[in-house]
Amino acid sequence: MLKIAVCVSGGGTNLQALIDGVNKGLIANTRIVRVISNNRNAYALERAAQAGIDALCVSPRDFDDREQFNKALVRAVDEAEPDLVVLAGFLVVIPPELIRKYENRIVNIHPSLIPSFCGTGYYGLKVHEAALARGVKVTGATVHFVDEGTDTGPIIMQKPVAVQAGDTPEILQRRVMEEAEWVILPQSINLIASGKVQVVDGHVEIDSRKG
Ligand code: GRF
Repeated sequence: MLKIAVCVSGGGTNLQALIDGVNKGLIANTRIVRVISNNRNAYALERAAQAGIDALCVSPRDFDDREQFNKALVRAVDEAEPDLVVLAGFLVVIPPELIRKYENRIVNIHPSLIPSFCGTGYYGLKVHEAALARGVKVTGATVHFVDEGTDTGPIIMQKPVAVQAGDTPEILQRRVMEEAEWVILPQSINLIASGKVQVVDGHVEIDSRKG
């Protein structure tokens, strides 16, 4: 059984895709053991409650400094004893200590085809605003392992999404979520839960032979 802790900040639609994937059997042998949000108003916490999943808020506002917040966040993850940490719309810089403790055991969903439109400052709608400003014809989403950099870890899955005439950042964001994020995040977790994913020399190898 793959135990996963999911970190969220907002609406939680990616969390919901994971909850639904587990419940429908699309994600094998997996249990979401904890949901952690930095935002006490995140609807993702309501989604966790509705699904009966342990959930808590660890907000930077409740701590004197970033170091104390980081320690509390690491503690909140460790307490759940997860095999994998999933960042699903989590808008917090991940403490280096967490990355070291969970090397190649933290995955993130980013709403572009990395290495385009990623790194510091590229999150949420800003990603889609940049894609439209550049005039790309294809964008998409990426699931990757988290390393010490920002959106720089080994890529697990990507899915392209066509940009359409008249797209606004909001319309494009929704299409990328519906057609890419909510598809490849559950698929990636299922691959990991099935033992089909390994990192070799900084690149992800997926074993397509395993049943
Ligand atoms: C989405 O734009 C997603 O791409 C990014 O965070 C945003 C909110 O996602 N990772 P969610 O609805 O909270 O899962």
